[in-house]
Amino acid sequence: MGKFGKHVNRFALTLALLGVASGVGLVAYRQITSVATVQPMPGSATTPQVGGAFSLVDHTGRTVTDQDFRGEYLLIYFGYTFCPDVCPNTLLAVSQALDDLGPLADQVRPILITVDPERDDRAVLAEYVRHFHPRLVGLTGSPERIAEAAKAYQVYYAKAQLPEDQGADDDYLMDHSGFLYFMDREGRLGALLSHNSGPDEIAAKIRELMDQG
Ligand code: NI
Repeated sequence: MGKFGKHVNRFALTLALLGVASGVGLVAYRQITSVATVQPMPGSATTPQVGGAFSLVDHTGRTVTDQDFRGEYLLIYFGYTFCPDVCPNTLLAVSQALDDLGPLADQVRPILITVDPERDDRAVLAEYVRHFHPRLVGLTGSPERIAEAAKAYQVYYAKAQLPEDQGADDDYLMDHSGFLYFMDREGRLGALLSHNSGPDEIAAKIRELMDQG
C-alpha cells in the first residue's frame, strides 16, 4: 500500500467507485470478477472487454498504438513515477520475473501507462524506466488519451492531495487501481494479477499464457 496514496487492490472496490460515478459499475464488476477467477475462452461471447485500443507516446517520443505491440505478450501496468512505493515495487517484481524467464522474456513487453500525465511527460518516463527492466516501455499522452486508455482497461485513478504538513501546496499523489494485465499476442486479456504479486507468481502466469498459445 502507498504511504499516502491508497492503492485499490480489488476490482470490486475499483468498480464500485466507478459505479458511483458512472452507474455502469455492476455489469462490468460481474464481468471482471469472472475473468479474474476463470480463464476466458478465446472467441467466447462471454469474454469481457478489458483492454483495447490506445494511442500514446512512448518514453523515446514515438507515437504508438496497441497495434504496435501485436505479436508480443504484454504485461500492462497503470501507475505513475511519483508513486512512493507500490508502483516501483510492482515494476521491480515485473523486472525480476522477466530476468527469471531468461530468453522467454524476449517475447514479453512490460508497459507502464502513467495515470499522471501532467507530471509524467516523455522525459520523466525515460529517466524512470531505465531503473527497471530494459524491455520496459513507458507510455504517456494527453489527459484525454490517458483517460481513454484507462477506461479501456477499467482502471480507476484520481488525484489525492498530500496531508497539509507534507510537501508543497501543488504536490499530490494519485489514487489508482493496481493490476497487472496479461495480454496475449492478439491483444486479448489472458489474466490479471494484483500489484502485490511476487516475481514467481508473475513469471508463472506468463508461462501459463505462453502455453495457451
Ligand atoms: Ni502507485
